[in-house]
Amino acid sequence: MEQSYQKLIDGNKAYAESKLAQDPEFFKRLAQGQKPDYLWIGCSDSRVPANEITNTESGQIFVHRNIANVVVHTDTNLLSVLEYAVKYLQVKHIIVVGHYGCGGVNAAMTNTYHGYVDNWLRNIKDVYHQHAEELDAIEDTTQRANRLTELNVIEQVRNLAKTTIVQRAWAERELHLHGWVYGLDSGFIKDLSVIHNTSEDIDPIYRYTQVTPLSADIPSK
Ligand code: CO
Repeated sequence: MEQSYQKLIDGNKAYAESKLAQDPEFFKRLAQGQKPDYLWIGCSDSRVPANEITNTESGQIFVHRNIANVVVHTDTNLLSVLEYAVKYLQVKHIIVVGHYGCGGVNAAMTNTYHGYVDNWLRNIKDVYHQHAEELDAIEDTTQRANRLTELNVIEQVRNLAKTTIVQRAWAERELHLHGWVYGLDSGFIKDLSVIHNTSEDIDPIYRYTQVTPLSADIPSK
């Protein structure tokens, strides 16, 4: 037990030393601030680490993760991350990243009681309900789960587009919303959808008129 914990500390030492060997200024530069172009909204699953699977470095991706990569419009954690990323970091792309073989998606397809998490997975049951006709027609359980994984990503991208935060950003600049599904068993990402502005893809009831640009909120120093 102790050994497996110590492994992390030892791993960190090896990491820091190898970075410094390659570039003595690496951490000093990172400490000066971050300017990532991407906000990643992914699953908490340990097999889907944002930087590792995209071959990127510290400082390049701002990350939010939760079970089954859900964008919930009452989630203060997600909304705070989203607003900070869009308003202050000025990210250019927001990417919702699902993955095949997602335990959250699989659980949401069953009627099994798991605990508190079922309230969270309810968001995925709603996606299922919304697309029940298409999903029920898929006989193979794995294929049905894969399709639900994709539809979940697509709906979560739409949920982003429905937020006032994203629409306020669109009032003044470009912000691209992407949906990806990562193949745990292949290592490759499938690019599913992209939304560039509010006039596309989302139902008119979710579109706000006369939104003020987000930058109007930034306090002057
Ligand atoms: Co997952």
